[in-house]
Parts: sequence; C-alpha cells; structure tokens
Amino acid sequence: QELKLSLEQIEKGGYEHFMLKEIFEQPKSVHDTMRGRLLVDEGIIKMAGIWDHIERFKNANRIIIIACGTSWHAGLIGEYLIEEYARIPVEVEYASEFRYRNPIITDKDVVIAISQSGETADTMAALKLAKEKGAFIYGICNVVDSSIARITDAGSYTHAGPEIGVASTKAFTAQLTILTLIAFKLGKHNGNLGNADFMSLIAELDAIPKKIEDVLSSTHELVQNIAKDFVTATNFLYLGRGYNYPAALEGALKLKEISYIHAEGYPAAEMKHGPIALIDENMPIVIIAPKKGHYDKIVSNVQEIKARKGKIIAVVNKGDTQVSEMADYVIEIPETSECFSPIVASVPLQLLAYYIAVYRGANVDQPRNLAKSVTVE
Ligand code: AGP
Repeated sequence: QELKLSLEQIEKGGYEHFMLKEIFEQPKSVHDTMRGRLLVDEGIIKMAGIWDHIERFKNANRIIIIACGTSWHAGLIGEYLIEEYARIPVEVEYASEFRYRNPIITDKDVVIAISQSGETADTMAALKLAKEKGAFIYGICNVVDSSIARITDAGSYTHAGPEIGVASTKAFTAQLTILTLIAFKLGKHNGNLGNADFMSLIAELDAIPKKIEDVLSSTHELVQNIAKDFVTATNFLYLGRGYNYPAALEGALKLKEISYIHAEGYPAAEMKHGPIALIDENMPIVIIAPKKGHYDKIVSNVQEIKARKGKIIAVVNKGDTQVSEMADYVIEIPETSECFSPIVASVPLQLLAYYIAVYRGANVDQPRNLAKSVTVE
C-alpha cells in the first residue's frame, strides 16, 4: 500500500504539530546549544564571541538587553543571571520602546539583542540606534546569517535547530542556556563567581537536558489530563517569584498566543497590589513554586489564593508537601538550583498551553493574527 505522507507530515516526525515536536526536542536543543562550549571536565566555558571581546564586557558600564516577546522574557532571566553571577548591571528593554524613547547609550555600553528569527524589525531598528551611539552589539540568534546576526559585532548562535511553530518553545530554552553560559563565563572571569561554585553550577547545567527529558516523560500525560479541565476557561493567572517570574510571563504568553484565552503573568508578590481582586472559584492560577527561590513566600501567596477559592495548578519539586496540599493540580519537576528552574519549569507550561489549545480546536502552529517573524513595526 502506498504511503501518502506529505512533506510536512514527514517534517513533523510523527508529531501532530511542529510545536509538540519542538517541545519534545528540548533535551537535544539545550544539549546542542551547550555542545563544544561547556567543557565540564576541563572546567571551561568556550565562547569565542565573548572571549574575543572580553575587555568590552569587563569594562562595560552596563549591559542592555533588547528583545521582543518570548526573547524579551529570556532577557529578563538573563538580567537575573548576569547580575547574580557576574555582578554587571543589566537593563532589559522592549526593542519597540527603546528605539522610540531617546535612550541614553554610550560607547561603554554593551547591548545584547536576543532574537530567534534574527529578523524582528523593532529589534533590528533598536540595534541600529545603539550601534550609531557607539555601543558594542552582541547577538543571540537562532537563525544563522539572519539580519540581526549580520549587523552585530559578535554573538553566539543558539543551536536549537529550525523552529516552525509560531509559539516559541525550544528557542526560548536555548536562549536561556546561552545566557546562563554567558553569565557564568563573565562571572568566572571577573572573579565574582568562585571556582568551586562555578564547577558545581556547570556540572548541574550539563545535567539539565536529562532533567528536561524526565519532565517530558513524567508530566506529559498528566498535563494532558489537566488541560481537559480548562478548555472552557476564559482567564488564567500565572505567578512566580525571582527567576520564575519571567517564566510565569512566558507561560501566560504561550497560552494566550495559541489558545486565545486571556492570561496574565505576574510576580507572585504583586498579586496583592491588584490581581488578587480577580480571584474567585472560576480563576485558574498557575503557580511556579520550586523549593529553591522564596518558597516560604510562595506558600503564603498560595494560602491567599486558596482562601479565595482560586483553582491552583502548582509546579513544584518532587516530594513537595506544603504547596501540593493546597493545590488542585500538582505538576512535579526535579529540583535544580534556582537559576536553572525556568528552563525546567517552562516545559510543562508549554505542554499545558499546547493541549488546552489543541482541545479548543485552535491552529497551534499558526495562530490567528501572528507571524513567525515580525518584520514590520
Ligand atoms: C513567541 O512565542 C512569539 N511568537 C513572539 O513573542 C516572539 O518571541 C517575538 O516576536 C520575537 O521574535 P524573535 O525572537 O524572532 O525576535
């Protein structure tokens, strides 16, 4: 019998959508992004783009990260990483705002642009502006030889492979991987990250692809079942603290992009400054609550939600009790240092958005009104 597989079906590799395939590719794409760069046994991070310009980074007044959408969320995590481990001040800007607000830029600034496609018009325009003012421009792009990759002074490619689904998944975790490598490399070089901590952090980073694999296999079915209960939801809140605050923003963006359900991400502590008014028995709240990273504070946030009867979907570490006892749904992920938890925690949130969208009959790979690269303003 003749096999009638379209080219697209072959490209999807047996998955129903590119997005699901790309979610499942993450153990490999994160590994590929580290390959040849992270040399754990030697205790070295090799990144020519950084090393060749190390003085520019070392003498930088500050680093400004410019991006849009998911790449901007990666940038926020980059800020936490670089400030914590390299102690260099970082600002993160939406490219569209940066380019139109007459920003102060000097030749002592380092600008890092993050872009999966390397073609985003706003990011490109912001970079041209920064370049004119003499800043050193570094690119983190996924598409090789893209416009942004070509205009930058140096850069590091994320080796995530082609990302077809409009909703970014594997490019995001690859961006986080590069930003982690940059933060550790700069911190080691400028002496803010001691050798023992550096060695244990890189060993842990090396094990992240395996942890992503574990999360995929242990949460896939569970998340599908959870998704069934939220097909008719009209709103969602996503909460996290510290490194997981941007992960909450990203979780919310994934859901709204592909399922068309209104979703907002917030730092959990900001809840009492407004969003708490929204909470009742009809409000689903995804809360990212790993052990490391203000866990006690998150516990009290969860208590506040519980008292208002919000439906809690908690992403916790294996063996968690306090948050799990209060949650309506529990998704367990392995424990990591706080700085790696957004990489691991994002995976079940991608799956949740994906399955809710699939059950709603949405076109997950090509959501309405969106393009993979936004090459217009
Ligand atoms: C991500 O899911 C979105 N499709 C979108 O926010 C995207 O991240 C943004 O347009 C930036 O794209 P870029 O990384 O290619 O510059």
